[in-house]
Amino acid sequence: MNITNICCIGAGYVGGPTMSVIAQQCPDIRVTIVDINEARIAAWNSDDLSELPVYEPGLAGVVAEARGRNLFFSTDVDRAIDEAQMVFISVNTPTKTYGKGRGMAADLKYIELCARQIAAVAKDDKIIVEKSTLPVRTADALKSILHNTGNGVNFHILSNPEFLAEGTAVADLHNPDRVLIGGEHPEAVEALVSIYGRWVDRSRILTTNLWSSELSKLTANAFLAQRVSSINAISELCEKTGANVDEVARAIGTDSRIGPKFLKASVGFGGSCFQKDILNLVYIARSYGLQEVADYWEQVIIMNDHQKRRFADNIVQTLYNTVSGKKIVFYGWAFKKDTNDTRESAAIYVADALLAEEAEITVYDPKVPAGQVYRDLDYLGTRSPEENRRLVTVVGDPYEAAGDAHAIAVLTEWDEFRTYDWKRIREHMMKPAFVFDGRKILAANKLDQIGFQYYEVGAG
Ligand code: NAD
Ligand code: UGA
Repeated sequence: MNITNICCIGAGYVGGPTMSVIAQQCPDIRVTIVDINEARIAAWNSDDLSELPVYEPGLAGVVAEARGRNLFFSTDVDRAIDEAQMVFISVNTPTKTYGKGRGMAADLKYIELCARQIAAVAKDDKIIVEKSTLPVRTADALKSILHNTGNGVNFHILSNPEFLAEGTAVADLHNPDRVLIGGEHPEAVEALVSIYGRWVDRSRILTTNLWSSELSKLTANAFLAQRVSSINAISELCEKTGANVDEVARAIGTDSRIGPKFLKASVGFGGSCFQKDILNLVYIARSYGLQEVADYWEQVIIMNDHQKRRFADNIVQTLYNTVSGKKIVFYGWAFKKDTNDTRESAAIYVADALLAEEAEITVYDPKVPAGQVYRDLDYLGTRSPEENRRLVTVVGDPYEAAGDAHAIAVLTEWDEFRTYDWKRIREHMMKPAFVFDGRKILAANKLDQIGFQYYEVGAG
């Protein structure tokens, strides 16, 4: 099967970068990314590349190279499906907020809508690729919907989960550790292998059965998040005992069986997927009656919630047990550096806890606009939108943010925070001036010397 026309449904953080890189690497394949969100598509088509809806280092260059040549962004979903030989489904699969499995299971309504739309539109045989992260055996449901259309069209379903991390998406896509493709139909599998094979070494393209591929994605995220929760658990012990968690991480990470990555203690992991995917894994295990398996993985989430909560508690306790009416500055709101994504960011939950103690919060983040900060807080529903706007200020200058502040909390590990003139920042703060480093990125000695009361996760 020689693929010359691809469609991707969903122009989000995965669909946008992933398909842009495929288009960049395969100039002879026409790639159309479609979405029902008109504003998002308009932003992807913007002449001003700083307006792209997803901020990722290197992405604007990839889009500039391919857009208009063989890469297109459109809201005409039907047409793109009709014209494509291969359709990627890359829509959101959030945690269910209603009904059975509420708060745990993945909400598959967007996936099902895509399948029904493909079934309704398709007039010739197509390969359907699951790019979204899905519960194991979702391909069964897709097959059932697609194969019962009665229009004589054949569909081959592949699972091709995405492993990119935000902030490094383009580098991850250009040079992936592996590409995973699960499927039953050898020719369909080979068609997708040969697309990635244009720039990824074949030894890194793994093929499996459908269910292994679907389950490997949830498992990979669960293992990664588990490492963060594991080191965060040790960070609390470090604070009690005088050990330093960075030193412990370095000491254990040199063991080649453990490895050095994903051992950075923090205020807690965020992002749209770790929590959602583990909750989904827990739900699946429970639905098969595997209580111990479910409880084991659920602990990763429990530990992460604890880490966020105790970071906020420590700020309150250290500021003499009250933050009421005190100005606390957040450096960073995104869930990690080099992205404008704030979904499930630890900053949201730390802010919520401090606002409950009547703190006043000023936020500075180099990539997150004010509207997003308020949307995140409003979404929690803890207090009214008016109250959120009264208590939270978002500014565009980190030095201005610090004026008259009682404390600065570092919530995201943006590189620029290390380069600030911290002496100047302290001059304009209330004294004693406190810094709570939830990312362990600042130089403790230097801040001590300047006169800050400096607290970092995982150090006594
Ligand atoms: P996203 O919310 O940024 O994008 C999803 C897009 O799909 C939205 O723009 C939405 O409007 C669109 N959409 C939904 N239903 C549609 C429909 N019926 N027709 C057309 N468009 C529709 O989500 P995302 O972060 O890109 O994640 C997508 C999937 O990829 C999820 O399953 C996620 O778990 C997985 N994933 C995400 C990441 C990541 O870093 N964000 C990494 C790997 C895997
Ligand atoms: C994660 C995985 O790394 C990707 O492989 C996966 O494709 C993606 O989820 C997904 O399925 O959505 P992402 O969430 O974008 O990627 O970013 P990560 O680098 O994994 O960071 C997740 C969170 O963990 C961030 O809040 C980060 O600050 C935190 N983290 C990460 C730590 O606190 N310590 C670490 O050592 C590493």
